[in-house]
Amino acid sequence: MNGAAPSRLLFVCLGNICRSPLAEGAMRAAAARAGVAVEVDSAGTGDWHVGRPPDPRAIATAARHGIDISGLRGRQVRIEDFDRFDRLIALDADNLRNLRRLAPPSAGALLSLLLDHAPGRQGQAVADPYFGEDAGFETAWADIMAGVDGLIAELRGQRSL
Ligand code: 4NP
Repeated sequence: MNGAAPSRLLFVCLGNICRSPLAEGAMRAAAARAGVAVEVDSAGTGDWHVGRPPDPRAIATAARHGIDISGLRGRQVRIEDFDRFDRLIALDADNLRNLRRLAPPSAGALLSLLLDHAPGRQGQAVADPYFGEDAGFETAWADIMAGVDGLIAELRGQRSL
């Protein structure tokens, strides 16, 4: 750790039970490995899964990669999040659009897409695996790791967006 104030990052998807809890777990683990100080949370733009654990397929995917996300619980994005976090990072364009719509004019947080942080993948979405086959969760994991690795590089000051 370099003693700097931790960067506060909120990952945002639709339900907060598949992609954003995976991103939260992946980012927390990658930052710990890299010695980068972060505070990480996740939330959904929808409210269907508030208080629920991640989807069992997301829990299993994280576990295959050595990360336990079973203790996370769903919550919805709150207006205060736009000031409590330095960055709100959406998993796809629909959720980014919703965040832009919700953001108070004075909001302090920067808004971006997760894959904007992955070299060569600007504007791309982490596809929603909820209604698809199990394999979609591994694809989501790989996409999330590309974004997380890019974020870590930025936070280390190696590269800026
Ligand atoms: P997530 O996936 O946004 O990655 O958590 C979804 C989970 C639930 C629903 C949609 C997407 N849903 O419609 O309930």
